[in-house]
Amino acid sequence: MSNTDYPRRTLGRQGLTVSAIGLGCMGMSDFYGPSEETTNLAVLNHAIDIGVNFLDTADMYGVGENERLLAKVLKARRDEVVLATKFGNVRAPNGDFLGVNGSPEYVAAACDASLQRLGVEHIDLYYQHRVDRNVPIEETIGAMQRLVEAGKVRHLGMSEASAETLRRAAAVHPIAALQSEYSLWTRDVEAEILPACRELGIGFVPYSPLGRGFLTGAIQNSGELTADDWRRQNPRFQEGNVEQNRALVEAVTELAQARGCTPAQLALAWLLAQGTDIVPIPGTRRITRLDENAGAALIDLGDAELQRIDAVLATHAVAGTRYPAAGMASVNV
Ligand SMILES: NC(=O)c1ccc[n+]([C@@H]2O[C@H](COP(=O)([O-])OP(=O)(O)OC[C@H]3O[C@@H](n4cnc5c(N)ncnc54)[C@H](OP(=O)(O)O)[C@@H]3O)[C@@H](O)[C@H]2O)c1
Repeated sequence: MSNTDYPRRTLGRQGLTVSAIGLGCMGMSDFYGPSEETTNLAVLNHAIDIGVNFLDTADMYGVGENERLLAKVLKARRDEVVLATKFGNVRAPNGDFLGVNGSPEYVAAACDASLQRLGVEHIDLYYQHRVDRNVPIEETIGAMQRLVEAGKVRHLGMSEASAETLRRAAAVHPIAALQSEYSLWTRDVEAEILPACRELGIGFVPYSPLGRGFLTGAIQNSGELTADDWRRQNPRFQEGNVEQNRALVEAVTELAQARGCTPAQLALAWLLAQGTDIVPIPGTRRITRLDENAGAALIDLGDAELQRIDAVLATHAVAGTRYPAAGMASVNV
């Protein structure tokens, strides 16, 4: 398949067209243990080569390092990429997390800093990474709207916003996409948030669509992860929960075998089947996995298969919250 043949989807009502599956770049610089720049650059270039043109980063990933990494690819290939980044999770230079900032002054400064690190003139999709409880959302979105007017940003997005916040935000300026966690083991957005997106014409970008790697079967327990891997702090990977969650992954693996695909592909094809407004962004630092994940856009799950998957999921309760308590307090705001 040439890169122009790769399936595309449109996020929101303003015509933001992206590859049906994007590439999450976070793990290349942060959270999931060590990685190699040469390999990361090869993965990024390969993604663009095969038509996976929707690259997802954030200013907080590696405290700016992930944007600097992307800059090395964008330098030569800016026009081939739909570039998404985020602001709002503030970190100190040593990585300490300092809180959420959605003040208009901060929005303007964060955008300029991202543009500089990325080495680009504009960002295609600029997300507020977390909603700031101390700033009315109208003020934050108003500041983001001014970035659009200034030509620094093309489309606006939010992450982990509640249905009510989305309604207030969309009343100020169209929101092209909500990026929130959604996968075979995290389906809470289905109750209110996804319906709100549809009512408001907001596309949906599931993050951690492979359950941070766990749903693929490649990780059995947190003991396999390096000491600095953030997943060690994730309740779902911890002893007492991980055993029950492995049973879910075994069931997913059986479903994938029946379909003749891998568990990762089943997880992504299932998300794509939830609506044409959905664009998952799996993260990987390996070309083979990138190809595998990209291949999921060619898998069409039928109604009977989707019902079977639902039935299997219904018999496997997930153990543990998707973030530790502090993280849970910053979602669905
Ligand atoms: N908005 C937010 O708050 C938020 C939060 C988290 C993430 N995100 C975004 O969403 C993106 C994706 O989420 P994520 O990286 O957390 O989780 P994910 O995509 O669910 O899983 C990534 C993990 O799965 C592994 N993996 C990928 N493909 C695989 C395959 N085919 N077989 C086996 N293992 C595979 C990767 O390992 P290798 O890298 O070693 O291949 C990595 O450890 C991030 O990169 C980031 O851009 C956003």
